[in-house]
Order: sequence, then structure tokens, then C-alpha cells
Amino acid sequence: MAKDKTIFTCTECGGTSPRWLGKCPACGAWNTLIEQVADAGPGKNRYSGAQFAGLNQSQAVMPLSAIEASDVDRTPSGIDELDRVLGGGIVEGGVVLIGGDPGIGKSTLLLQALDALQRAGLPTLYVTGEESGAQVALRSRRLGLDHSQVNVLAEIQLEKILATIESMQPAVAVIDSIQTVYSDQLTSAPGSVAQVRECAAHLTRCAKASGVAIVLVGHVTKEGALAGPRVLEHMVDTVLYFEGDTHSQFRLVRAIKNRFGAVNEIGVFAMTEKGLKGVSNPSAIFLSQHSEPVPGSCVMVTLEGTRPMLVEIQALVDSAGPSPRRLSVGLDKDRLAMLLAVLHRHAGVACMDQDVFVNAVGGVRISEPAADLAVMLAITSSLRGKALPQGFLAFGEVGLAGEVRPAPRGQERLKEAAKLGFRIAVVPKANAPKKPIEGLTIHAVERVEEAMNVVREIG
Ligand code: TYD
Ligand code: MG
Repeated sequence: MAKDKTIFTCTECGGTSPRWLGKCPACGAWNTLIEQVADAGPGKNRYSGAQFAGLNQSQAVMPLSAIEASDVDRTPSGIDELDRVLGGGIVEGGVVLIGGDPGIGKSTLLLQALDALQRAGLPTLYVTGEESGAQVALRSRRLGLDHSQVNVLAEIQLEKILATIESMQPAVAVIDSIQTVYSDQLTSAPGSVAQVRECAAHLTRCAKASGVAIVLVGHVTKEGALAGPRVLEHMVDTVLYFEGDTHSQFRLVRAIKNRFGAVNEIGVFAMTEKGLKGVSNPSAIFLSQHSEPVPGSCVMVTLEGTRPMLVEIQALVDSAGPSPRRLSVGLDKDRLAMLLAVLHRHAGVACMDQDVFVNAVGGVRISEPAADLAVMLAITSSLRGKALPQGFLAFGEVGLAGEVRPAPRGQERLKEAAKLGFRIAVVPKANAPKKPIEGLTIHAVERVEEAMNVVREIG
């Protein structure tokens, strides 16, 4: 095949250059030029090949009401917790991007899912660019999938992968990983922004045109973003992230974008000797088991997706050097700075000369502000060296004026906590249930200082 000409385009101003340059000749920005295939001109668009025929049929303009609103068909993957995050199952022609740290279990989960689909009679294809076929086979034996009929292709060249998908027409194809795939059309190295973007775009078009569901595996950088361009997230239908501490047993899969279902739904898995097993009742897995209450620990109930989960928030406040440190794991760092300011201004708790570390136990990431009250109580408890009582929990968003705002679906959170034997709860006033919950004493508060007083009285 004749190579298309490539050009370099500036990501800042859109200016072009025939060669790679460190500095954009148009706007002067540094390191912004990325390689792209030059447009082949009218009528010779590089996407007009047979495999993209589905996209080239022009359709008549019609009012929305005249278009049939057919619901998408979903095929359950056979792994309940994965289906939960996907919104019910894999969608025909849908493209899923699944990201996560190395070693967290992406390949394991996808191999398990493909095997389940294949057993259900659907043809599947696993394209491996990181491991050899033998390594994949070894993994499948370890997973107990001895007679697996999943088709494996060890290949990293995009054109060959597309040709195989075209000829084989599997129901689901997994590309593990998109960073290893490269296109002949570009000279940049596999894994570069240009390659990842170009390959993902081709695979997405292939999925839409052929109806094959494609799952792209993506690596995550140290900063937690998907390596390569964020544009990948815009191209695909669903973005899933694996979370959790690789040293702990539990893994979360979170949907952060889903064109076919709810976002922020989470699937919970435990890594075992025989692969990932779904955890259908995960409410208590993020609690550490202290035999006695310890200072600096406060339990909260998060509710992301449909299930409430209890998570222990830990804080350590320790005298600091000239520039005190603020560090958070699993919680937003900027929010921590804000909470410390509110704590000082509205509750008179000063941590100016202290290092403050906070951590959500088990590698879980909490993005909802309902964690605020628990973070503040854990910090105060560590600063004073005084543990919160046994069976204590708190949740609620805290505002800059020191007010405590309600969390969505407070009743559900409290009921789950009561079920797990929690006895005392400090919650926002608007979340206080009308009918008492058996076994749970509820202190409803409107302000941070009230919450501090409650804790002082019961402690
Ligand atoms: P893997 O799926 O290779 O991670 P990723 O594709 O996200 O990089 O996960 C590999 C890790 O999981 C590795 O550290 C070993 C562990 N593991 C198990 O504990 N049990 C198993 O059955 C398998 C296959 C892997
Ligand atoms: Mg892998």
C-alpha cells in the first residue's frame, strides 16, 4: 500500500508543518506538533474504504420524532459486576476504554469476560500486543479456563488487526493494549499521542461500521490520567477505570462515562488465585479491623452508583517543619486544604504548624463531597489524640461558611450502617430520618462547630 503523506499539526493553534519541529512555526508554542496523516483530497478520503461503508451512507434529514428510538441491545458479559458498570452488558458496535494501573487486573478481567462470552456461543477475539500467545495461554490455565475457545491474535499492527476483525466478525474484540498498536500510515512510535489517537479512531470506526463491540485497554500515567491523549475518552462510548491498591485484594471498576448507562456505577472484585471474583455485597470491605478505636479514624458511608459502602477515612496530624505538608490519598487534595481552612475558621481547630495526611482505606477513591465531615472529624481526632467512639460514623458535605449540607439518599446510607452494627451517627440535619433507625443514635447537625461539640460530648 502506498504510504499517505503525513504532516505535523499544532495542538494549540492548528498550524501545520511538513516536518517535526520543537516549536510551532505559527504560534510559537513548544512541543505541540503531533503527526497526522495528511488529507488525501476530495473523494479520496482515507476513511472511505470498504470497511467504513456504514459511515458513508448519507441519510435523509428528518425530525427527531420520526426517528425510531430503538433501545440498544445488550449482551451480558457473564460477569455480573462488569455488567453492572457497563449498564447491563456489552452493546453491539460499542467501544469501551478500560484504564488502570499496571498489574491491577485489566487483562485478567477481560480474558475472563471473553471466555464467558465464548462459552455463551459468541465468537470473541483477544488481540494481545503486550504478551505473547503463550503468556496469554498460561494465564488462561491459571484462571482455570482449560478448554477456552477464545481466539487469540498476537499482533500490534493496526491494519492487520482491522483486517482480522473484518474477516472474522467476532461479537467482541479486546485490544490489549491500545498503546502497543501502531499504524503503518504514521512514522511516530507506538504509544505516541499521534499513534494512539489514529489507531483508536480507526478501531472506533470499524466498530460502528461492523457492529463488533471493541474493548480498548489503556494504561494510566502516574498522575492517574489515561496515557496518551484525553481525546480517547471523547471517541469511545464508555470509559471504565480500575481502582484499588494493587497490594490489597479488592478492586473497583468505575464507569466515568457511559453513553449506554449510568455513570459512577461501580463494580467490586476480589483478586484471588483464580482470577477476579465479583463481590456482590461490598459494603464492609473498606474498613480496617481495629480491635480498639484508634485516634485519627472516622468511618463514612459513600453512595456512588446504587450501593452504599462504608469507608474508613484515616488522618494523621503531626508537628511539621517550616513548610507543613498536606497530603491526601484517595481524596481531593484541594478539598483537604479547604476543609482545613473551614476547620480553623469555624471550629477553632488550627493545623497551621502541622503536617496533615489523610487516606481513604483500601485504595478506594472518593470523589463525593459527603466525605467532608468524616475527614474533618478524623483530623480533629488525630490532632487531639482522642479516638472516636466504637461504632461511630459521619457523613455530610461542608461549605465554606461552615454549614453542613445534606448528602443524597441519606436514609439508605444510615440503614446500611445500622445493618453493619454501627451505633452512633453524626449527619446533616436534612438527612435525619423521620422514623428512628433501630440500633442507631443519630445526631443531626447544621454546622461544623455543632458536629465538633457532639463529638466532644459523646467522646
Ligand atoms: P493483569 O491482569 O496482568 O493486570 P493488567 O493487565 O491490568 O496489567 O493482572 C496481573 C496481576 O494479578 C498479577 O500481579 C498477578 C495477579 N493475578 C492473581 O492474583 N490471580 C490470577 O489468577 C491472575 C491471572 C493474576
Ligand atoms: Mg495486561
